[in-house]
Amino acid sequence: MPWSRREFMSGVALGALGSTGVATPATAAEIAPKQRMLAANKPVIVCAGNGYDYLDRAYEHLKNGGDTLDAAILVVKGPEDDPNDDSVGLGGLPNEEGVVELDASCMHGPTRRAGSAGGVRNIRTMAELAREVMNHSGHVMLVGEGAERFAVARGMKRENLLTDETRKVWLLWKEAHSDWWGPGVSSPNWRDRFKNRSADERLEFHERLQRIAEDLGIDPAVRSAAIHKIVYPPTGTIHCSALAANGDMSGCTTTSGLAWKIPGRLGDSPIIGAGCYTDQDVGSAGATGSGEENIRVAGAHTIIENMRHGMSPLEAGMDTLKRIVRNYNGDMNRLQYVDMTYYILRKDGAYAGVSLWTGYEPGRPHTIGVHDGTRRLEKTVSLFEGASQEWPPIVAPSKASL
Ligand code: GLY
Repeated sequence: MPWSRREFMSGVALGALGSTGVATPATAAEIAPKQRMLAANKPVIVCAGNGYDYLDRAYEHLKNGGDTLDAAILVVKGPEDDPNDDSVGLGGLPNEEGVVELDASCMHGPTRRAGSAGGVRNIRTMAELAREVMNHSGHVMLVGEGAERFAVARGMKRENLLTDETRKVWLLWKEAHSDWWGPGVSSPNWRDRFKNRSADERLEFHERLQRIAEDLGIDPAVRSAAIHKIVYPPTGTIHCSALAANGDMSGCTTTSGLAWKIPGRLGDSPIIGAGCYTDQDVGSAGATGSGEENIRVAGAHTIIENMRHGMSPLEAGMDTLKRIVRNYNGDMNRLQYVDMTYYILRKDGAYAGVSLWTGYEPGRPHTIGVHDGTRRLEKTVSLFEGASQEWPPIVAPSKASL
């Protein structure tokens, strides 16, 4: 006999609540990965290449029974404190107004909690701030001034994060009149961003940049690198995922975001599920690269769900990269301006570093730092061979001209 709508609805409600009227939680078998993962029984840490130098201290921390999130933060804090690393923290490249604005997020597997802070000025150690938000507020995400005030209330130091070196590179960018206003690479009007300079005009532009850099007193030893950052704005970031011998897992991601961005721009790093995601039943993953693209595919979460459904770390990462390609219908004219790297660690210690392109430029491949008792730097596996081009194209769609 067919059910009436009323009978059907009450049947659904009973099923969900159980006969006692109390909600029955999903069983472990329902939420656990398809193939139940056994922990590696030893610590394993993966991170973006710029964390390599700091892996030993984090590994030692895990060997001594320390917390996995504390270990991951020990790695990313290295570049955050380093004034010469312009991708995060002190000395990070600023926004278009010359102000360093930082983003970070973290996930703590053992307690299944998350914290995040975005668009924060004057606070250097953003991964620690994300952990403070997680541990000392009832929120997951704080942004801007409120996040800065929260950091100071929690005892963190307010300081100017723009170094003399990054100030000069910002001034060089200012004088070159580059900007993020106008259509992005995902817009149907993306070609509007080309300046269509002739070869002579491109040379003239490059010579102008050289002259301004000299006037600004940018050290000749780093002048070419500074000009490169004007022409190809970087999205430097660091992610770290850590696994303890007992199977605990955590991850964090921290960044100064896209260089010369519009103030208030948030990338993927502070977005739980995009720049960082950890579910210690399955694994932990994080990203560096084009934040806007990664948000559109919820990269880190997609990777964890792929592994939950049986994919290896490599397959899970490649599938996620292919989702970015699909967002452009495979249009390589535009995908040359997109880059993305994922750092993936599964609960059993299997790991992968995958990237859309081999590297940012020939001879500088994307890398993943690994420590599982032996510390090493490995090249990522890339979907496309070659170097990505940074957006927006200011000089010409080819790095060969520089
Ligand atoms: N992936 C860092 C950013 O886009 O801000």
